[in-house]
Amino acid sequence: MQQYDLTKAVEISDGIHWVGNGTKTFLSRNSYLLCYNGSGKNNSLVIDPGPVVDVDVLIHKVTEVLGSVSKVNAVFMNHQDPDVVGNAPFLARSNPHMLMLATEDTWRLVCLSGLDATKFRAVERFKNLRIVMPTGHKIQFIPTPFCHFRGACMLYDLNSRILFSGDFMGGIAATQLFATRANWPGIKAFHQLYMPSNEAIRLAVQRIRELQPAPLMIAPQHGGIIQGEDIPFFLDMMENLQVGLDIITTFDKIMPEMIAGLNEIIATVRKALGEESVTKTMRMFHADGSYPAIFTLASDGNITEIKGDPMESIEALIRMFFRNCDEYQKSVLKSIILKILILRNLPTFDTLLAEEYPLEVELFADDLDDTEILNSVSF
Ligand SMILES: [Fe+2]
Ligand SMILES: [Fe+2]
Repeated sequence: MQQYDLTKAVEISDGIHWVGNGTKTFLSRNSYLLCYNGSGKNNSLVIDPGPVVDVDVLIHKVTEVLGSVSKVNAVFMNHQDPDVVGNAPFLARSNPHMLMLATEDTWRLVCLSGLDATKFRAVERFKNLRIVMPTGHKIQFIPTPFCHFRGACMLYDLNSRILFSGDFMGGIAATQLFATRANWPGIKAFHQLYMPSNEAIRLAVQRIRELQPAPLMIAPQHGGIIQGEDIPFFLDMMENLQVGLDIITTFDKIMPEMIAGLNEIIATVRKALGEESVTKTMRMFHADGSYPAIFTLASDGNITEIKGDPMESIEALIRMFFRNCDEYQKSVLKSIILKILILRNLPTFDTLLAEEYPLEVELFADDLDDTEILNSVSF
C-alpha cells in the first residue's frame, strides 16, 4: 500500500486535496480542499473544515496548497457537529466574502456560532440540488436524512467522481489515508454508535448506488477513504448492518439477563484465574476520553450496563480473559461459560466458542495488542 506523508496536504485526485488531521487519533478527522480552476476563475472549496482543535493543521495544509487560507472562498458542511464545522468561523473571518453551503436544517444550528447569514447558500435552493461552478465544474448534493443528523447532506464532485460523505461511511481506528476491507470493524463500530437505524442507512446506500456516474472514491469525514471495488463491498456490508435503535430494541428485553450472565461469567473467571487477572482485564475497558467505555462498572467491579452491541462487547471481554489462559484453562472456561449462557437462555456466542474465528474477528487476531481488540468492538 502506498504510504503518504500525512503531515502534509495530499492530492487525492486532480486539484482535490486531503487536508485532515492525520491518523494519530482514534477518531481522526478528514477535511478536503477542492481547487476549481478554469475560464480565468479560481474557486477553492473546503469540505467539512473540522474541529477547532485541528485549526493549525488546517491552516498549515491549506496554506501549502493555496498560499493563504484567505483564498478559500466557499465552505461546505455536511452537518453541524463541532468536529465538522468548528473551523468555519475562522475561515469566515479569514475571508469575509466566503460563501457557506449546507442544508437549511444544518444552517439553523451552525449559524448560532455567529456566522454571517448573508453568506449562506442553502443547498435546497439549487435546481436539482446541482451547481455548475463558474469554472464549469459540477457538483451535486445528496441528502442523507438521519445519517446521522436530520439535515446531513453529501457532496458529489462530478468531475473527480469523489463522493464526500460526511460521517456516513466513516470509521474509527484508521491508520492509513485509504481504507481497505480490514477497516470494516472500525467502520461498523462507528455506525453502530452514531447512526440511528438501519432504515436510515439503507436510504443513504440506495442513493449512493443510484449515482450516475458511480463514484470512484467515497471520502468520509472520519477514517479511511474508500475506493474502487471496495465501494460496493462496503455498501453491501452497510446495507445489512444493525445500528443504534436496532441494537437497543433487539437487546432491550434480554439485557438484564445478559448483564447478570456476564457478572456470573466474571465471577467464574475470577475463581479460575484470580482477582488480579480479572482486575487487569477490566481496567482495559475504561473509557480513554476519545471513545466511551464498553461497560459501566459498579464499585464492587460488577457490570451494571453494556453499551453498544452487547454480543460483541461480551465476546470481546471473554476473548480478553482467554488471553490470560493456557489451553487447558481456556477449554474448561469455555464449557463453563457455555453452560451459564444456556441456563440463562442467552445467545451462546458461536463465533467465540467455535475453533475458527470468522473473517471479521480474524482481522483482530492474536498478533494484535489489547487496545486493538477493544477497537474491534462495536458500540
Ligand atoms: Fe457527526
Ligand atoms: Fe463526524
